Amino acid sequence: MKAQGIDVVNFGAGEPDFDTPQHIKHAAIQALNAGFTKYPLPVAGIPELRQAISEKLKRDNELVYSPDEISVAGGGKNALYALMQALIDPGDEVIVPAPYWVSYPEMVRLAGGKPAIVDAVEGNDFKLTPAQLDAAINKNTKLIILNSPNNPTGAVYSPEALAALAEVIASHGVRVVSDEIYEQLVYDGVEQRSIASFGPEMRELVVVCNGLSKSYAMTGWRIGYLAGPSEVISAVNKIQSHSTSGPTSFVQKGATAALTGSQEPVAEMRAEFDKRRRIMGDRLNALPRIACRTPKGAFYAFANIADCIGREVAGNRIGGSLDMAAVLLNQAHVAVVPGVAFGSDNHLRLSYATSADRIRDGLDRMGELLTSCH
Ligand SMILES: Cc1ncc(COP(=O)(O)O)c(C=O)c1O
Repeated sequence: MKAQGIDVVNFGAGEPDFDTPQHIKHAAIQALNAGFTKYPLPVAGIPELRQAISEKLKRDNELVYSPDEISVAGGGKNALYALMQALIDPGDEVIVPAPYWVSYPEMVRLAGGKPAIVDAVEGNDFKLTPAQLDAAINKNTKLIILNSPNNPTGAVYSPEALAALAEVIASHGVRVVSDEIYEQLVYDGVEQRSIASFGPEMRELVVVCNGLSKSYAMTGWRIGYLAGPSEVISAVNKIQSHSTSGPTSFVQKGATAALTGSQEPVAEMRAEFDKRRRIMGDRLNALPRIACRTPKGAFYAFANIADCIGREVAGNRIGGSLDMAAVLLNQAHVAVVPGVAFGSDNHLRLSYATSADRIRDGLDRMGELLTSCH
């Protein structure tokens, strides 16, 4: 549609619309000019970057990991993929709370495992309860995936909720990967904690996944990392050694600058996302037949469209989130992601990684279209 000159409001973006801060670009350019263009060594990440990650984990997360317990990858996605390849054998089950980031179940399957989807209900702010987790664990469970702040729901587990989950996890001794990629993007004063910080048992069981894409507007740079027990990290490094050979050398210099330099740009982006989050939340809840909990983290709103299902919008019968996304795109020129991609057909994901004016415009268009819903 865009290629045809149609003005589409895009709420589909999974990346910040900001540019990478200048000092980060500058460090990578300097590295390029200095000839830092050979194979990256070691595969786990250049020493200064792993040192910077180690210091960041201590500074922000109260986590103590030595550089040997850290593996840098070509994005959080590649880090998670390598981790699953390292840990999962055919027949293993992996607990994936729904709604989930689209790639988790596929990564599990690519490693020969079986995703065990557990529905985190909206009434509990899309958070898994300790009882649900306890009931889902069986003798085949190899791994539990936790993602807070969450894509697509924007939910953030409180320290108390994490402590309760940690108790269940410790009692079963099951490994966890904690995807904390949206960690810097939390609002309304909520406290963001890593489940790895809940005592020595969690430190042994949890592998932390994080990355620079979302916090520093560095999606195209492809830098993510894992921190965890050294036997897991060394297995991941072997996979990376025979697949990627490690992340691009000069990009790692930029990533080091991101973590060691001024964190002011992160705060500025967070403040801007927060402003847009409130505009989107207020406008969504003012729409007929749509309800949306206030997201506390990341940059997504997960809007409930259950009241539209089984009705007609602009003459189109709405059977689920795909139909709703199609009618929004075709009739209102608003792009959203259907919730079914994340394991919930009663929802749409709308990203607020776009300007406040575009958010107002897109939601006005949605409002107009929804007046025809009956
Ligand atoms: C929950 C979650 N984890 C991990 C990633 C991976 O991000 P990247 O590979 O850019 O680090 C994403 C990206 O959308 C995400 O939403």
